[in-house]
Parts: sequence; C-alpha cells; structure tokens
Amino acid sequence: MSYKTLLLEITGGVALITINRPDKLNALNDQVVDELAHAAERIASEDAIQGAVLTGAGTKAFVAGADIADLAKQGPFDGKARALRGQAMLRRLETCGKPVIAAVNGYALGGGCELAMACHLRIASEHAKFGQPEVKLGIAPGYGGTQRLPRIVGKGNALYLILTAEMIDAQEAYRIGLVNKVVPAGELLATTEKIVRGILAMGPLAVRLALEAVDQGLEMTLDEGLLLEANHFGLLAATRDMKEGLAAFLEKRAPRFEGR
Ligand code: COA
Repeated sequence: MSYKTLLLEITGGVALITINRPDKLNALNDQVVDELAHAAERIASEDAIQGAVLTGAGTKAFVAGADIADLAKQGPFDGKARALRGQAMLRRLETCGKPVIAAVNGYALGGGCELAMACHLRIASEHAKFGQPEVKLGIAPGYGGTQRLPRIVGKGNALYLILTAEMIDAQEAYRIGLVNKVVPAGELLATTEKIVRGILAMGPLAVRLALEAVDQGLEMTLDEGLLLEANHFGLLAATRDMKEGLAAFLEKRAPRFEGR
C-alpha cells in the first residue's frame, strides 16, 4: 500500500510515521485512519520495524481531531462504524507488541489526543496543546477518549477535560500525567527517537511482555494481574535473553540480546 496521507520512514529499526495533511492540521479523515491501520499492522508484523514514533507534519499540529467535514455527513450507523474503525486501528497500535511513542508537536485535540493516548508514551513539544473538545460540537469522544483518558489521568481529570472541552498546554498535560516529558520544539524528534532507541536496547521479549502485562492487567482483578505477571516472569526465565541480561550484569559488560 502506498500512502497518500502518511510518510513512513524506517531507520535502524525505528519507523517514523508522520501524519501528513498539514493544511487541515493533520485531521483524521477516513483515509488517514485506513492508512494508520495499515501502518499499525506493519509495525506489528514486520521484523524490520522494532519500534515506532508518530508525529504530525508541520509545526502547528500533531492531529487536530477527527475530520469534522467527514463527521458532518454521518448518520447514526456510519457514525458508529467510523468510531469502531478508528478504535480498532488504535487498539492494533496499542497491542502491536513493540514500543510506539507519540512525538506531540502541536495541537492534539479530539482524535489527536486519542491517537497519542493509544501510543505507549507521549513526549510533547513545549508548544503542544491537548484537549477533548468534542462536546463543543455536540458529539462525544469516539476513538477511545472516554476510556483511555481516565485510565491515564484518573476519572476527575478526564471528566474535567471531556466536560469542559478545555484545551491545556504541555506543562498542564505533564502535571496531570497525560504526557511523560515536555521538551523544546527543536529537540522533540531527537529526544523521542533517543527514548525509543533506549527501549530497543533492552531485552525485546521483556519489553513485549511488560507492555502486555500492563495493557491486560489494567482490565483484571489484582490477583489475576499478579498471576499474569508471575507467568510472564516465569516465561522470561526460559529465554536466552534473560540468561544473557543477568550474566552481562554479573560480568560487568553490555548485554547482547537476541530476542529469544
Ligand atoms: N477537521 C477538519 N478540518 C480541520 C480540523 C478538523 N478537526 N481542524 C482544523 N481543520 C482545518 C480548518 O478547517 C482549516 O481549513 P481551511 O484552511 O480549509 O479552512 C485548517 O485546518 C486550519 O485550521 P484553522 O481553524 O484555520 O486554524 P487555527 O489556527 O485558527 O485554529 C484550532 C486551530 C486547532 C484551534 C482549530 O482548527 C480547531 O478548533 N480545530 C478543531 C478542533 C476539534 O474540535 N477537534 C475535535 C474534532 S472531533
């Protein structure tokens, strides 16, 4: 598939995916959602991709939301179908098994904030702005905002953002835990890439199972989650990577992980 609304560049195992509709502030129309779904599948399935960074083209926006022109045409059934398609795309990204980091370079509103939240980490430029302004338009978040936002920032902060439609700056997003780090605009991509490459230097099986335990564990009782964690811990003990990681520490050298 050749993309019309995305740029995808793979360098040393890291896919840099840029949503490329800067004249519409990178709004998510149906084509962007379809292309992102394809890209998410590639991240999950291609060995040449070990991790990914998502960002928006231009200096103004990461993604300014779902495409309001598309939403204006929808009825109840295609509206529901659109929400399900967007949700499935984001879920594929979230469960791809490899680290995906949002480099939030500007507005991350509505579907843009929802896209960033489906990534495992969020690094924001000092100029980034976040919000779930849907109720202003007479709609409610449809790409997971009502579910992921409270899981990330807690129910009180999530309801505040969703009900007031208020836009917050990067520092406030950092204060409430919506983003992991705020950096100067000029350092955004380099910092994000450094973080993803740092993760790629860890044991890849350990990273994959840690992602899975956090993702699935949040939906379980504490006892079920702890059992899942213990099962993963045991599974990792059967890998060469665990033996290599522990031996490297004891021998005071860098580990050479193989992913098995
Ligand atoms: N869907 C479709 N088009 C969008 C869009 C969206 N979510 N957000 C911005 N655009 C388009 C604008 O219509 C405009 O297109 P035009 O030049 O063809 O008229 C272009 O992007 C630039 O946006 P503009 O509003 O002129 O920029 P601004 O700097 O004045 O304002 C925002 C920036 C982000 C505050 C404003 O664009 C906005 O409020 N966007 C909608 C945010 C939103 O509600 N998102 C949730 C949707 S569910």
